[in-house]
Amino acid sequence: MVAASTPTIIMALDLGTTSTRVALYDAEGNTVTIVAREHQQYFPQPGWVEHDATEIWANIRELSALALARAHLTAADIAAIGITNQRETIVAWDATTSVPVHRAIVWQDARTDAHIEHLIANGHNSAMQQATGLNLSAYFSAPKMAWLLANNDDAARLAQAGTLRFGTIDSWIIWNLTGGTVHATDITNASRTSLMNIHTGAWDYQLGRVFGIEPKILESALPQIHPSVHDYGTVTPGLAVAGVPITGVLGDQQAASFGQTIFSAGEAKNTYGTGCFLLYNTGHEPVLSSSGLLTTVAYQLPGQDPVYALEGSVAQAGSVVQWLRDQLGIIQHSADIEALANSVEDHGGVYFVPAFSGLFAPWWRPDASGTIIGLTSYATAGHIARAALDATAYQTLDVVAAVEADTGATLRRLNVDGGMSINDQLMQFQADILDVEIHRNADVETTARGAAYAAGLGAGIWASTQQLRALWQSGGHWSPHIDPDKRARLISGWHAAIDHAIGWPV
Ligand code: G3P
Repeated sequence: MVAASTPTIIMALDLGTTSTRVALYDAEGNTVTIVAREHQQYFPQPGWVEHDATEIWANIRELSALALARAHLTAADIAAIGITNQRETIVAWDATTSVPVHRAIVWQDARTDAHIEHLIANGHNSAMQQATGLNLSAYFSAPKMAWLLANNDDAARLAQAGTLRFGTIDSWIIWNLTGGTVHATDITNASRTSLMNIHTGAWDYQLGRVFGIEPKILESALPQIHPSVHDYGTVTPGLAVAGVPITGVLGDQQAASFGQTIFSAGEAKNTYGTGCFLLYNTGHEPVLSSSGLLTTVAYQLPGQDPVYALEGSVAQAGSVVQWLRDQLGIIQHSADIEALANSVEDHGGVYFVPAFSGLFAPWWRPDASGTIIGLTSYATAGHIARAALDATAYQTLDVVAAVEADTGATLRRLNVDGGMSINDQLMQFQADILDVEIHRNADVETTARGAAYAAGLGAGIWASTQQLRALWQSGGHWSPHIDPDKRARLISGWHAAIDHAIGWPV
């Protein structure tokens, strides 16, 4: 490709839970190239999940150079960088050395469950939900920060000296890309920490007290909050993308929503990734849920009020396929799941509740445990595979029921994306179980695409969200066609299985 005088290519950095991707897009929204690398998952104790933040940063450095090389481009061709990331995961580092004091504590990590249980027992949940839109859960960042301050001497010492920095993965990468000159986050990531007031979009340092964190520590350690489309600074010399401005940042589920062009109230998307996350746009209104959903910021454009969403977060989706591959060994490659599930006519009475780290939305039961039920000697590996896939559709059903209860609206259409959405049989089952039209994006990598869209708006490649809407392309459409009695029977079986999974004494 020949370097244009005015660069028009956008680079998206997608820092997911299991892998890092770097993607390039042209001004028509076409994917130019995409490169990816998995990073190590650390499980130091049952329920604990950690990442090495320096490994993730090294992957970004190498993959951004690799993406440019693959496309025969240089930094001069790149108009802007967009960042999107696994949310809630917290990195703590020393501002003077840029060295993390501990491995990143990942969103799935349950080490603070007992702390959270104690806070709930002391009646903090309702005030926390009113202020942040989030229920109290080990899922969010604040309890992880509190754990680091209480259990890591370096974190505690640096916090007292005012040189500790806390950030979600976006902040860690912005810090490194800008050579330690910018400590920033976007409002969607901040809305997942339990420390941002959902109504004002600003940190509420006093919320730290609930978790036992001194407000003055947070004042020096937390990044500045900016809109999702914003000038975050320019990449420092010495990197493959030196001199390129960072103009868009979004948490990964919000980026997928942006990539699906879910810009208006009443629109919804569901991303089938490591977990499964449904976002329902509620416009400029932060709707507080009574049904087990989270209130989150969907995106914020410069000079405008935030746009909010109700979110149903399901912890286990694609990760269950990995479990069937790595722990149970009934498939060799993740892609084999489709053939195995299709080798049987239906689930054969088997239900699989993948509550490996408790159940998230809408149940929020850390005491739920993974359950396979309905087994007879007729059951085969195929039935277990089918039940594992079906579980994602059922969990989405429970989330959609909560959205409808909270909003009074009936969902008619759901845009889908993410790795598991390429499974046509699962998408048909999703349409049947939800009784909703399912529309798959032609590009299932909508997370990276959304980060590119935000960065492209910031860099003036695209002028408006209307222009981005025109880039949406269909990759398939499924309508419900199931006998209503059968649907009702299947759903009641699922809810019986959920009842068995909850409260299992471990
Ligand atoms: O909240 C966790 C979420 O951001 C992780 O997303 O795509 O890595 O499953 P994903």
